[in-house]
Amino acid sequence: MVEASEVQRGLQDVVALESRICFIDGRLGRLLYQGYDIRELAERSTFEEVAYLLWYGRLPTSAQLGDLSARLRELRALPAPLSDWIATLPPTTAPMDLLRTAVSALALFEPEETRPGPSSIGGAQRLTAVLPTILGQFHRQRTGAKPLRPRPELSAAAYLLYAVLDREPTELETRALDVALILHADHELNASTFAARVTASTLSDLYSAVTSAIGTLKGPLHGGANERVMELLAEIGTVDRVEEVVKERLARHERIMGFGHRVYKVEDPRATILRRWSEKVGAAKGNLHDYELLRKLEEVVHREKGLYPNVDLYSGSVYALFGIPPDLFTPLFASSRVAGWTAHVLEEYDDLRLIRPTAAYVGPTDLTYVPIAERSADAGPSPGRAPPA
Ligand code: SDX
Repeated sequence: MVEASEVQRGLQDVVALESRICFIDGRLGRLLYQGYDIRELAERSTFEEVAYLLWYGRLPTSAQLGDLSARLRELRALPAPLSDWIATLPPTTAPMDLLRTAVSALALFEPEETRPGPSSIGGAQRLTAVLPTILGQFHRQRTGAKPLRPRPELSAAAYLLYAVLDREPTELETRALDVALILHADHELNASTFAARVTASTLSDLYSAVTSAIGTLKGPLHGGANERVMELLAEIGTVDRVEEVVKERLARHERIMGFGHRVYKVEDPRATILRRWSEKVGAAKGNLHDYELLRKLEEVVHREKGLYPNVDLYSGSVYALFGIPPDLFTPLFASSRVAGWTAHVLEEYDDLRLIRPTAAYVGPTDLTYVPIAERSADAGPSPGRAPPA
């Protein structure tokens, strides 16, 4: 029988499998995709090139990148029945629920893409291409904007901005989002990627694995944090209120979103890069309000709790400067992380092992079955949750 003392809550520091996709050194704040440093990729690469790198394990030649980019642009359109279904949704629909449901529904129209195994690379490209279309169509209909057009001449980042904003993005906005998509594309066995691998490890299909991942990313302790950072900034309002609000929240033992990390014990290298882009885009747009609040927030949270910023602290401030609403911030995270999720699903298919940890049983082991006629409602406290009154 496994002892409770052997439990690693949250599987913290448990090494679950071998992978070649992503390396994180939490002590040094180092992040590599297939051996390449994230800082170099953020400086010199594009989201399409990083998706290729994650899926195939090497940087593409110019021809290979051209082929992948063209393929992704071909795959942007939705099947008409799914587009018609999205059109029936109320404007109050939560975009992460929309993504989760639409990916699940898409599998019904594309059964050939859902065979587990190496052929799932087709589904990986399909889902990476189509998430922006799902978001763009829904956001345009809820804001009364013009219908979305395929725009095959636009890169992934430019298309995502065009799809959501209903306007031509500037070069600076396009590059800023391209860098954000690179930074969010993978992160080893984070909760949503682990959820995708658990699903794939049963030989379930890629669309089911990505559906699991989207549902997991939605949580505020994971991908949902970037939206809550902006809610905190709205509550704080001005730099001189940062200290007071942070101390109030910490006194209530509340988490400050955008800070802390299970793996990084120093600054998340992605936060370093996003901080620079938040200042750069803010300065270009003449609006450093959020950036200045975030800098002060960093100073106070680090002084009071010794915590560092993670990827979610600055990402929302960049998206807000584009005019993207907060409830699309985590969907933007998903539009990038789908490349990493699908890379891990493919790696799981290549070296499949059912993921099935065990639990330390802490319940009773010697109870005798009592016929229902002899049971009474006050048979002592229930070890679990209180039964209905
Ligand atoms: C992402 O895994 C990944 O790689 C995820 C991600 C990715 O790319 O996929 O990097 C993306 O999810 C980033 C994290 C986004 N989430 C948030 O910003 C939410 C706020 N952060 C925390 O909830 C927390 O830091 C976690 C969940 C991210 C990590 O928490 P851990 O490792 O479980 O740490 P813990 O809860 O055991 O906390 C240790 C201590 C505690 O203090 P004590 O109660 O022991 O005194 O640190 C404190 C915590 O209270 N703490 C915080 C805090 N984070 C940790 N206190 C206040 N605010 C915080 N944000």
